[in-house]
Amino acid sequence: TIFPAIMCGGSGTRLWPLSRALFPKQFLPLVNKTSMLQDTLVRLPELKNEPVFICNEEHRFLLAEQVRQLGYKNHSILLEPEGRNTAPAIALAAIDALAKDDDALLLVLAADHVIKDEQAFHVAIEQASIAAQQGKLVTFGIVPTHAETGYGYIKKGSEQQQGAFSVAQFVEKPNQQVANEYLSSGEYLWNSGMFLFKAQRYLEELQKYRPDILESCQKSMKNTQQDLDFVRPNKSDFLSCANESIDYAVMEKTDSAVVIPLDAGWSDVGSYSALWDVCDQDENSNVLKGDVIAQQTSSSYIHSQHKLVATLGVENLVVIDTPDAVLVADKDKVQDVKNIVAQLKVEN
Ligand code: GDD
Ligand code: MG
Repeated sequence: TIFPAIMCGGSGTRLWPLSRALFPKQFLPLVNKTSMLQDTLVRLPELKNEPVFICNEEHRFLLAEQVRQLGYKNHSILLEPEGRNTAPAIALAAIDALAKDDDALLLVLAADHVIKDEQAFHVAIEQASIAAQQGKLVTFGIVPTHAETGYGYIKKGSEQQQGAFSVAQFVEKPNQQVANEYLSSGEYLWNSGMFLFKAQRYLEELQKYRPDILESCQKSMKNTQQDLDFVRPNKSDFLSCANESIDYAVMEKTDSAVVIPLDAGWSDVGSYSALWDVCDQDENSNVLKGDVIAQQTSSSYIHSQHKLVATLGVENLVVIDTPDAVLVADKDKVQDVKNIVAQLKVEN
């Protein structure tokens, strides 16, 4: 049976100052009235098992409270003392799910994605579970809408079975020119970072390609500390683990990868331009949140948490007002908001 494994470890730095180190984007109601994490949970098809969450120690109460609001009772919350990227996080979830069900399938999802077409998502999960039952490591590939450089790309091979294609190639975040070529070739999909596989198969492939990561994770899960809802893998064992993404550790190397194309209005809402894109826009293509007056303003994302914000005669701007920080940015430059956060870290 399927266990959702929800990765909640991101820091969302490109969405500063809305997203903060202690309150990152997956816990914020950025698109709807509920948080992105809660949207992720509500979007799930009906499943027998409650999710396994993998989250940073620092955010445990945010997570626990938002999960409690949805009425879960038999979920797991695995706490990382420090992130080691997705390969170890997913290994922890796989070990946890296998302890509950030795035939567990893991549906690996990020807590901070938007998927508009729920129906298409559910159909893709159905298709994926057939391949996963046969031992495949299924990745969901998004039909690209533009030459995005913030995503990894998957080259589709031949069709294996209903809707599932072999993976010809994985390419992590190409440059603009290469992304343009991929888009026009029609042969590539975006790597969504969502997966479905048998927990056991993932651990087998990890054993094959990164036995060091598997060993650290297994050790850390043999000696956990538990309080309230929280499970803490052994700290020193987990911290000794290499920092690696599932893409590099397993998906690029395994012979068992298949990709299921998904055309469902997916976005990882990584930046303010992506957020502007997924939100409902007014007749001037603006997204205005909070106390905002926008005259002769177009194609802008303006979000006020604190003061009245007024704009006049501007276009393609991002303006974010919070109690202690204001961001004003060109909407075409918002990938670099992370550099502001980096400077803040150095100065503090
Ligand atoms: N629990 C946990 N621990 N979660 C983590 C950790 C960790 O150490 N590191 C990352 N995550 C979660 C993040 O919260 C995010 O939701 C997801 O895993 C992907 O990590 P990112 O750090 O956001 O990766 P990325 O955006 O650079 O690239 C990946 O995702 C893209 C799609 O969103 C790659 O897989 C790309 O190829 C892909 O296109
Ligand atoms: Mg990301």
